[in-house]
Amino acid sequence: MRRGAIVQLTLLALLIGGAVTVVALYPQWLPPTASEQADRIDFVFWYVTAICIAIYAIVIAALVYSAWKFRAAPDDDADGPPVHGHTGLEIAWTAIPFALVTSMAIISAVVLARNDRVGSDPLRVDVTAQQFAWTFKYPQQKGLTTNVLRLPIHRPTRFTLRALDVIHSFWVPEFGQKQDAVPGTTTQVTVTPNRLGTYPIICTELCGLGHAVMRSAVVVMSQANFDKWAQAGGKAAGGGGGTAAGKTVFVNNGCGACHQLKAAGATGKIGPDLDKLAAYAQSAGKPLEDFTRESIVNPDAYVEKGYAPHVMPNTFKSLPKDQLDSLVKYLAASSKGA
Ligand code: CUA
Repeated sequence: MRRGAIVQLTLLALLIGGAVTVVALYPQWLPPTASEQADRIDFVFWYVTAICIAIYAIVIAALVYSAWKFRAAPDDDADGPPVHGHTGLEIAWTAIPFALVTSMAIISAVVLARNDRVGSDPLRVDVTAQQFAWTFKYPQQKGLTTNVLRLPIHRPTRFTLRALDVIHSFWVPEFGQKQDAVPGTTTQVTVTPNRLGTYPIICTELCGLGHAVMRSAVVVMSQANFDKWAQAGGKAAGGGGGTAAGKTVFVNNGCGACHQLKAAGATGKIGPDLDKLAAYAQSAGKPLEDFTRESIVNPDAYVEKGYAPHVMPNTFKSLPKDQLDSLVKYLAASSKGA
């Protein structure tokens, strides 16, 4: 090939590669990362993307150059010149992709192995997924249980996931990690947060009517603030009476995802409107508190007209008794006040 052709081809490839690089970099395609695992995954992503851009630029440059330089005249019906392969070229286009693909495999394997590493003393969090709420339990913090996840920064956290009903999937985009929660077994995933902030927790496995609202949040905090919170939270989780406790149970169990309740600012539309609880109890012909309790522990005993049976999970019967009591009191009181 002549020198002029090589220069033209190279310029074309650089032009195309530059344009594609702008498209790759300019819109923010990926969420900002907030964990060591996400940083490693992003590294693999950009390594592979860079290789793809380079190969794409070379192929398109050759294509455009050929169409431009070797274009046949409109009245040219002659055969093209016979070409009998090129050993050097064939070795190059076999060896280079082989090296690139092998390097991708090695880098991916190293990242996968390192992302699963937990160190000698990870924070442990038991995640329970159910239609349509997340519960997080900290076995090392006296079983502290919460609905909004809190994690200390820079400490590996090992999640153990369980599902009470159907398959759900735990996903925090900024953490780069996603893991299914499957009934009848446990699954695990590791996250080492490295940026303070609040990020969404999303259920990313279609799990029923409330799937789209099966969301929570994770707050990444300093180790000192986390310790303070865990200590205070351990005490606050003791329950007790009063409507404030009931509201906490309501919020912590994600009831607002499906139900409307003005007192809690909940606007769910999947299940019955809890502001009308007193009227429902009347149609069912039961005292308000008894009716409320029965509807929580045995949701299909009475189903209000216009709502489908078997939608409300029957897992809330396993709520601790003090929490159930305060939830019932809270709901009954709120609907009377409405
Ligand atoms: Cu749980 Cu989707």
